[in-house]
Amino acid sequence: MIALADLPDGGFAEVEAEVDGAPESVLLHREGGAVRAWLNICPHAGRRLDWAPGQFLKSKEGHLVCAAHGASFETVEGVCVAGPCKGERLRAVPVRVRDGEVVIATA
Ligand code: FES
Repeated sequence: MIALADLPDGGFAEVEAEVDGAPESVLLHREGGAVRAWLNICPHAGRRLDWAPGQFLKSKEGHLVCAAHGASFETVEGVCVAGPCKGERLRAVPVRVRDGEVVIATA
């Protein structure tokens, strides 16, 4: 798992975690003391969102941009606001911060 201090404010990271019993790549996003998590799977064509493991694109507006075909996602609800899957959303993964550690909480 990852320490909150290792996740820059406004930044993204990728971790491997078990989600619903299967190992998955999970995208983390930090905003202040809050962390959000989604599966690292784009709703457009099912590709990973990062261009290299853990390397995510961020637009000037602060949106997460899929490296495959450029879909842009706002980072509160994970909704696609521009691009080929506009209106669709990333699949949220339950996450919390406990004792300074980011914990994926799917159980
Ligand atoms: S797979 Fe993400 S925009 Fe196409």
